[in-house]
Amino acid sequence: MITILPLAPGHQPVIDSLLDDRFGPARRNRTAYRLRDRAEVLGDFSFVAMEGDTLVGSLQCWPIRLKSVGGARQPMILLGPVAVAAAREGQGIASALMRTSLAALDAADSPPVLLIGDAPFYGRFGFSAAATRHWELPGPVDHDRLLLRGPTTGLPRIAWVEAASGNPPRTAKVA
Ligand SMILES: CC(C)(COP(=O)(O)OP(=O)(O)OC[C@H]1O[C@@H](n2cnc3c(N)ncnc32)[C@H](O)[C@@H]1OP(=O)(O)O)[C@@H](O)C(=O)NCCC(=O)NCCS
Repeated sequence: MITILPLAPGHQPVIDSLLDDRFGPARRNRTAYRLRDRAEVLGDFSFVAMEGDTLVGSLQCWPIRLKSVGGARQPMILLGPVAVAAAREGQGIASALMRTSLAALDAADSPPVLLIGDAPFYGRFGFSAAATRHWELPGPVDHDRLLLRGPTTGLPRIAWVEAASGNPPRTAKVA
């Protein structure tokens, strides 16, 4: 039986190993990682999937900011990575993690939620690339995969997505 639990600090080493398995060790060079450099994971919105004592899935959320042309900044949430153990794929675990996290975000009336991922999967949870076409990140990004969920009224058409602490100056691969 799979149980969805809030992320706890002790889960991190196992999550890192799951992420290395699913994304490869070069994952840390991706643009998404530059957005969460030096950020602390948002424990209220981050969850793990457990099968007994074994961690078989994880979803983490991070604080980020959107900066408009005039320099105004507003908070946003970066969702991801989402990963499920290869042996447990197709059993609804990622969907359960998504539903749990999004329910917690909605209950907290969170800022808009951004992620870099496949629209055919994340679209079913209300994510869309419509508002993000002209947003820049601290590294290359495929804009078809830059997906937003939440009210778009008042969001700038042109903007920069940045780490909550500002972006470190180094190169990155496409997320
Ligand atoms: C993507 C991933 C998280 C899905 O986990 P999962 O537990 O197998 O997903 P679920 O069982 O909840 O959902 C499966 C459904 O999503 C669909 N799906 C899964 N990955 C998809 C993708 N990349 N694009 C489109 N649809 C996808 C499946 O076809 C299936 O559809 P169905 O419900 O209509 O049959 C998992 O395959 C994984 O960890 N992959 C490697 C890491 C990764 O790519 N993470 C996502 C980017 S952040």
